[in-house]
Amino acid sequence: MCGIISYVGRKKAGPIIFAGLRRLEYRGYDSAGIVTVDKGKFHRVRSVGNIDALSKKLGKKELKGSYGIGHTRWATHGGVTLENAHPHYGEDGEVAVAHNGIIENYRELKEKYLKNHTFKSQTDTEVLAHLIEKFAKEMSLKKAVEKVLALVTGTYGLAVVSVKEPNKLIVARLGSPLAIGIGEKEYFVASDATPILPYTREIIYLDDQEYAEITLDGCQIYKLNQGKVAKESQTIDWSAEEAQKEGFEHFMLKEIHDQPKVIQDAFRGRLREKIGSSYMGGFNMTDKQAREIDRIVLLACGTASYACMVGEYVFERLAKIPTDFEVGSEFRYRNPILDEKTLVFSVSQSGETLDTLVSQREAKRKGANVRGLVNVVGSTIAREADGGTYIHAGPELSVASSKAFTNMVTVLIMYALYFGRLHDLSFEDGLKIIEEFKKLPQKMESILKEAPKIKKLAQKYSKYKNFLYLGRGINFPIALEGSHKLKELSYIHSEAYPAGEMKHGANALLASDFPVVAIATKNDLYDKMESNLQEVKARKSPILAIATKGDKKIQKTVSDVIYIPKTIEILEPILNVIPLQLFAYYVSVDLKRNIDQPRNLAKSVTVE
Ligand code: M6R
Repeated sequence: MCGIISYVGRKKAGPIIFAGLRRLEYRGYDSAGIVTVDKGKFHRVRSVGNIDALSKKLGKKELKGSYGIGHTRWATHGGVTLENAHPHYGEDGEVAVAHNGIIENYRELKEKYLKNHTFKSQTDTEVLAHLIEKFAKEMSLKKAVEKVLALVTGTYGLAVVSVKEPNKLIVARLGSPLAIGIGEKEYFVASDATPILPYTREIIYLDDQEYAEITLDGCQIYKLNQGKVAKESQTIDWSAEEAQKEGFEHFMLKEIHDQPKVIQDAFRGRLREKIGSSYMGGFNMTDKQAREIDRIVLLACGTASYACMVGEYVFERLAKIPTDFEVGSEFRYRNPILDEKTLVFSVSQSGETLDTLVSQREAKRKGANVRGLVNVVGSTIAREADGGTYIHAGPELSVASSKAFTNMVTVLIMYALYFGRLHDLSFEDGLKIIEEFKKLPQKMESILKEAPKIKKLAQKYSKYKNFLYLGRGINFPIALEGSHKLKELSYIHSEAYPAGEMKHGANALLASDFPVVAIATKNDLYDKMESNLQEVKARKSPILAIATKGDKKIQKTVSDVIYIPKTIEILEPILNVIPLQLFAYYVSVDLKRNIDQPRNLAKSVTVE
């Protein structure tokens, strides 16, 4: 996730911005840059790679000036190149811009307002820089930014400086956080409070659609289409590390809470209401070619493989294309039968998992169409695939995956929708899925509000030494994922079963010291699940159920319930996994585990 840091004051801006970039490193990035302004001239340094590379590039040179902006970039539009690194200039080099987020209509803006402009990068941000500069020739920088913000669709955390308006920062927020630090005749702006805290603890957080004009004399905040707003600063008493976690105790908890936001990044600009379908930019296949695909293989490891299991179910349901999910570490040693009518998706958060990567290479060798579905931009899987889609979950720092999982499932369902609409899924059914998609962020928020209750349940259950997770149909992979989360975070033994399989063996485990976590939401298999739970109850295992809001009946069978809002069956996994993530998290907190770095595990598994 990109990071912004800006400064205006009486000190040298360069070193302050540089130190700020270092404090933003934890957010993840692939290039970085700084621009300062002195006597009407920009001084800019940018580099691909880490802040050390930027420092090396800068050498002994001084970035002169007492105001400027810095940026760490996590690539979205355009590869990881020097040209794409921020800050970007307008065409005449009078305005510089750093931007977090995605401008969805940047092509339309380019076409409509900037026809004769030459661009140096492939970024959406450079379009903003050109547009602001163009408007600023006829109005103030603030008014120019205002005008541009009214034209854009998408998300932004924005910082703008101009050589024509000294000692001034214009910053704006929609969807991408910005904090303003208030010092003694100096101001700092950053994506979070971390780089600001060494200088001041007086912070104003901008809300969506707010923007600010900041000079040496003060900071005035405005709301789009509404004019000036008065905002009080808050005194922050977090440490820098706490600030990186945005006040959450662990990255894991922060990332679980990121989900309602990042799911919107996954479907932003990709849902097509008019045709009841979806469209993924990097897919690199025409509808005609896609219609010829007669088999889909979903390749992944660990949590990503459970996302693929959900994908398998949804592809078959919506697109009616035979689909198999395959674990990378097994697939690579088989002799898989693949041909040019097979579409293989390699699904990976890191984009570096060796077993998935080697399996992808094997699939390519066999002539299959290979597409990456990854989070880390420019990662090896993304580079080596014939195309693909970024899941846009933002950096995931906790070893245990959470938000990457929900975004993988989301993107897989969008692909299934696309393929469904190419075959026999009706417009009405496609549109219904889109409408339900849009309701998810709010429903996810409502589940997150149950965290205190889930924490209490976790404290009650943390004493057990074994767990069994049960699910059926599309929720069986969620049982697997819930169990996987519990194991890796708490080190408690846990396994997952399709509930209907219990009578073939696992029933022997059931006893009062062997709790069952059951996903029993109201769908076509609800009655079957309910009977399975009766069998569990008869054997005295405590049952914690995930059930649909309003289902009072389930209380008679189970010991505890966490209620989930209703959605359509294919979207249930996206909601049902959240209480299981929270449950695993709180059990592990209660057991005082090393949450963000569980023992024996690594975030990116680049070995066999
Ligand atoms: O980066 P990837 O998604 O390819 O990683 C795959 C697995 O290593 C990963 O999901 C692992 O299981 C996590 N620790 C799950 O929380």
